[in-house]
Amino acid sequence: MSTQEHWEKVYTTKQERERSWFQEYPTTSMEFFTELALPKDVNIIDVGGGDSHFVDALLDLGYTNVWVLDISSQAIQRAKDRLGDRASNVHWIVGDVLDFSPPTTFGFWHDRAAFHFLTSPEQIDAYIALAERSIAPNGYIVIGTFSEHGPTKCSGLEIKQYSATSIKERFAHGFDRYTCIENVHTTPFETTQNFVFCRFQRKA
Ligand SMILES: C[S@@+](CC[C@H](N)C(=O)[O-])C[C@H]1O[C@@H](n2cnc3c(N)ncnc32)[C@H](O)[C@@H]1O
Repeated sequence: MSTQEHWEKVYTTKQERERSWFQEYPTTSMEFFTELALPKDVNIIDVGGGDSHFVDALLDLGYTNVWVLDISSQAIQRAKDRLGDRASNVHWIVGDVLDFSPPTTFGFWHDRAAFHFLTSPEQIDAYIALAERSIAPNGYIVIGTFSEHGPTKCSGLEIKQYSATSIKERFAHGFDRYTCIENVHTTPFETTQNFVFCRFQRKA
């Protein structure tokens, strides 16, 4: 089964509370975001956003240029269905992040639990090179992955774990001003998953 087929099946067969990564409100991501007090028209992208409620939280705050990219068309459709009329205020992209040619640059790039599915050095380097090209000078990236104390798989797929140190090393070429925290996500099944979240700023 291809990566896309895997994710289409997940979003076709499981409701949101049947998926370990579900969050009613993306607290950590929004804390990293709101601290920056970015202008309401900044270009924001949620990479591997699935049907996360991150986009809802951004629209609630009045952000007007929000993009959601995901490999699963089913995930994007679920997010659109949930948002109803508000979905037309969002730029939706179905595709593999590694094939993405951004039509603009972003002031804020968010990725919770998508980057960690890239396990080969080539994939990881390609993602970071894309982020360097796509994030405006002084723009921000927030990445949340399973930590070294977290699970080794997500949705049945192998993932790559990170520590604050290892993720900083990966992004050091194009980014600085790091802020990293480790935190615990409680799944809908009342199990826990250890994450590391880092925010970096694109070098000027
Ligand atoms: C564990 S889920 C997290 C979803 C969302 N970020 C959240 O926090 O609720 C991982 C997401 O990454 C997407 N994904 C996985 N590999 C991808 C890729 N190569 N390109 C784009 N999206 C991808 C999946 O379809 C899925 O929606």
